[in-house]
Amino acid sequence: MAGGENKSRQSRLAFLGTLASGLAHEIKNPLSAMSVNLQMLREELDAQGSPREQRMLKRVGVLEREVARLEEILDGFLRFARGYKLEPVRQSANALLREVVEFWAAKAHAAGVDVQLVLEPDLPDVLIDANYVKQALLNLLNNAFDALTQRPAAEKSGREQVLVCSRRAKDGVEVLVIDNGPGIPVDARPQIFDPYFSTKAGGSGLGLPTARRILEELGGALSFDSELGRGTSFRLLLRTAPPPAPPPGDVPPPPG
Ligand SMILES: Nc1ncnc2c1ncn2[C@@H]1O[C@H](COP(=O)(O)OP(=O)(O)OP(=O)(O)O)[C@@H](O)[C@H]1O
Ligand SMILES: [Mg+2]
Repeated sequence: MAGGENKSRQSRLAFLGTLASGLAHEIKNPLSAMSVNLQMLREELDAQGSPREQRMLKRVGVLEREVARLEEILDGFLRFARGYKLEPVRQSANALLREVVEFWAAKAHAAGVDVQLVLEPDLPDVLIDANYVKQALLNLLNNAFDALTQRPAAEKSGREQVLVCSRRAKDGVEVLVIDNGPGIPVDARPQIFDPYFSTKAGGSGLGLPTARRILEELGGALSFDSELGRGTSFRLLLRTAPPPAPPPGDVPPPPG
């Protein structure tokens, strides 16, 4: 019974998803026509022209920005709704973490955020699509960055820190992305994985749902722990790759 309800809920959601994607596609065409026409209008107006022309140019600018914003929202939605074509291959989680965190640390350091990477050696390989897992990690790192930097100077400790660690877990490798920021408000916690939930001006609210979706499609998981005034830790579970098949020459002879 419950399973049946779940199924019908799922198929209703899938239907709504298809409908919404169709709608988003339909909106894209008129939007790009608007953008092309605004561009032409801009070319006809003279920036050194009459005050009236200058006022019109300003309004064209406002319209262009709003159209660009709508296009961005639609692209984000379509990318999320379409799902991903993941191509998992076996690889070292630590190597990926080193690459992503070293690249990202430059931005953190420039903002006075300390970055630590603590990797457990000799971890088993995981089965992941590196490009997508990188995206998921960057979403988490950027959230930590925002939590640490987008707060009033009086609330900052001057010891803003992000810690990334890896360790062996039961069915794979666990990665923790920990910040010592303000923590997630209790009433926001049930919503942070909802698409479009954001407490940031200009936030898309797609960062966490995207990250969770990527990890779940790889058979892993994404969860978090947060304590007000102390910080937040996101936990990614990456699945261990099955042991590599022995090369053909190494097949042991049949017994007997
Ligand atoms: N490390 C964190 N510390 C405190 N709050 C967090 C943290 N990570 C996420 N959040 C909260 O979860 C919300 C949703 O995060 P999500 O990444 O999905 O969207 P966003 O960061 O607001 O927008 P975008 O990812 O497009 O920049 C954030 O707006 C913030 O309120
Ligand atoms: Mg985010």
